[in-house]
Amino acid sequence: MTASRSLPIFSGATPSQVEEDLAVLVEFQREGVSLAELTAMITDRLLPHLVRYDRPQFQSMFNAFPPAEARLGAQVALEFNQGVTNWQVSPGGATLEELCCRALCRLFELGPDADATFMYSGTYGNQQALYLALHRHAERHGFDLAQKGIAGFAAPNMLAVLAAKDAHFSVRHALRLLGLGEESLVTLPTDERHRLDVEKSRSIIQELAATRDIVALVATAGTTSTGAVDPIEPLAEICAETGIWLHVDAAYGYAYKLVPAWAHLFSGDKRADSISWDPHKQLGVPIPNSILFVRNRADFHRMALHSHYFNRKEDEVPNPGLKSVPSTRPMSALPLVTLLRGQGLEQVIDGLKAPLIAVRSLAEYLGTLPDVELCHEPETGIICFRIVPAGADEQTLDELQHSLYDIALSSGQRAISVTRIGGKSVLRLVSVSPLITFADLRETIEVLRDQCRRIPNNGTISTL
Ligand SMILES: Cc1ncc(COP(=O)(O)O)c(C=O)c1O
Repeated sequence: MTASRSLPIFSGATPSQVEEDLAVLVEFQREGVSLAELTAMITDRLLPHLVRYDRPQFQSMFNAFPPAEARLGAQVALEFNQGVTNWQVSPGGATLEELCCRALCRLFELGPDADATFMYSGTYGNQQALYLALHRHAERHGFDLAQKGIAGFAAPNMLAVLAAKDAHFSVRHALRLLGLGEESLVTLPTDERHRLDVEKSRSIIQELAATRDIVALVATAGTTSTGAVDPIEPLAEICAETGIWLHVDAAYGYAYKLVPAWAHLFSGDKRADSISWDPHKQLGVPIPNSILFVRNRADFHRMALHSHYFNRKEDEVPNPGLKSVPSTRPMSALPLVTLLRGQGLEQVIDGLKAPLIAVRSLAEYLGTLPDVELCHEPETGIICFRIVPAGADEQTLDELQHSLYDIALSSGQRAISVTRIGGKSVLRLVSVSPLITFADLRETIEVLRDQCRRIPNNGTISTL
């Protein structure tokens, strides 16, 4: 499936060109077309505009291409029975999901009472974790959140959820959807390595306890911008002392706990109340493939809603849907199981490690270049930097990074990303695919430097 490295990974088309090409696909008509015509239409009209992420030039986001072993599981599910959540729909699927969840808890050494559920995405994992946190908090206030909602709190506007300023925006989505509102979010500072600052957080929490009702603290293990891993152990200590629910958003980072030289970054994870993880990121398991772990399996009882037609209260069969919201979910366990069993842990871990090593080597290389500024020491597989031609002022530099990003995307040859760190626009490479080598990352840097030299006046937008 991996196509030639020299082919473009994207057409480079503008939004209006893409729309023009796709219009025919949505001309719904009384008569259908043959599968051959349909395939030709998709091949000509759509495929050029899908960014190919099966090439090492894809360095912009988290998703790796599904390996054959993971595709096998997805294909079997598609051909036989996609659904899971209860025994009646799929006895094998329901049982496999339960077995897989327990096996993952053992793999990550999360302790004897831990459990997990598959989720549609890391976003929903974070949301459900905060719901569970709020539920436990309501119990401490003496009522059942499932029945009374946040109106059960005497002062709902005192409720607070803490998260670092670099936390993923899905935390804010969760607060909106849970009815807490974004004003319930208290943002915690980060240190020079972009990790949550433990000592400052400790004093903020002590002060805040006088005026707010703190529900949960969200730590991030692998932030979206820089891949930094918050120090989980001391945060778990603070949460244990204060009775705050600790959720670790490890949607991106948790896979790296499996890589021995990186595992220490996650120590303390078994003390977290909940952890979200996305195997659909660097493991390349077909989307959706997300997991929410809890330290105490009894926490999932707070999710259960029984019905008369399935997931019955008196059922003694596995009904994994009782641990999450949807009554229809894909059999995500199967492609994850086929990947882990098919490749074996050694190959999986080697595949995770290779792009991490590539990023470390790139960081060393960038340190030798006069016209590139490394913006952080990479902890995982993300690296942010700026191209900094001599004499350019800050505004020009900001514009330049955006121009370079636009040029890279419209060239169709590589996919990179742009973000902001410390008030500055920076370029960002994400190295998740086992295919990515140091040479691939260095090539991107050389292309960007070369492109910068071709832009007059250090690349201000107006000169493009
Ligand atoms: C740290 C972090 N948390 C949560 C998410 C959201 O995960 P998903 O895209 O699976 O909803 C992301 C996505 O990139 C992420 O980086």
